[in-house]
Amino acid sequence: MTIIFAHRGASRQCPENTLSAYKRAVELGAEGIEIDIQLSKDGVPVVIHDRTLKRTTSGKGIVTDTTYADLKKLDAGSWFSPKFQQERIPSLEEVLIFASNYPDLWLNIELKYYRENDDLLAQTAIPMIKKFRSEKNTLISSFEHERLLEVHKLWSKLETAPLYKGNLHEPWQYAKKLKAKAIHPHFKSIHGPLIKTVRSQGIKVRPYTVNEEKWIRQFLDWEVDGLMTDVPDLALNIMHNKQISQQKKTWWKQIWSIITK
Ligand code: G3P
Ligand code: MG
Repeated sequence: MTIIFAHRGASRQCPENTLSAYKRAVELGAEGIEIDIQLSKDGVPVVIHDRTLKRTTSGKGIVTDTTYADLKKLDAGSWFSPKFQQERIPSLEEVLIFASNYPDLWLNIELKYYRENDDLLAQTAIPMIKKFRSEKNTLISSFEHERLLEVHKLWSKLETAPLYKGNLHEPWQYAKKLKAKAIHPHFKSIHGPLIKTVRSQGIKVRPYTVNEEKWIRQFLDWEVDGLMTDVPDLALNIMHNKQISQQKKTWWKQIWSIITK
C-alpha cells in the first residue's frame, strides 16, 4: 500500500509547514505528513523550509540566526492568505504534540541543513522525536546524507532515507551504506524497473514531489511505498478509484467463473 504524505502539510490549501496545514492534511485523510526542520539561534527545532524568513513569514533574515522568541512573533500565514494571519512558525515539539492525537499518522521529518553551524540539529531533534514517537511510523529524511549516519547512531531502529535528485548508481547499495531503509528520489529520478529492483533489495521507495495526476497514477501503478505530494486529496481520490475498479474486476471474475461452471 502506498502511503500518501502531505508535503509540508496540505500546502495547496494552507500555508506550508504550519499547524493549519497539518490539521488540514489529516482532515483530507492523508496518512502521513512531511515536516521540514531547522534550529533557531538558541537551539529550538522549528518547522520551516527556507534558509531565510522572507518567503513564508513577515520577518527578514536567516532562520538559524533568529531566536525562538523572535521567530514566534512572526506572521507565517499572511503571505498565503489574509485569513491565516494568526499562523505562527510551529516548533517541532508543537507538531509532535499535534501528531500524538493521531497514533497511526506517519511523520516524515526532513532535517534541513543550510549552514555548517546547524551541527546540533540531529542531536537536539532525535531525542525529542523519540520522546513522542515510535519507530513504527516515523522516518527521517535529508539531502545531507552523512547526517543520516548521525541519526542512525542516535536511534538505530529509526528509519532514515536519503533525498536526492539525479541518477544514483545502484541506489539500494548506497542506501545500505548509509544504513538507510528507504530512498526518497526526485520523481523524475526513478522509474518502474528501478523501483522494482530497489524494493526487491528490501529498500523502500518514496518519490517527491508528485503533484500531477498522470504521475500520481504512474507511481501508484509502480507500487511505491509512499509518495510526497502537495495535493494529498487528489492522490487519495485516485487511489480510492483505483481500488474500486480493482474490486469490480475481481467481482466480475468471480461472477464469470460461477456462470461458466
Ligand atoms: O520530502 C521531499 C521534499 O520535502 C524535499 O524537498 O525542498 O520540498 O524540502 P523540499
Ligand atoms: Mg522537505
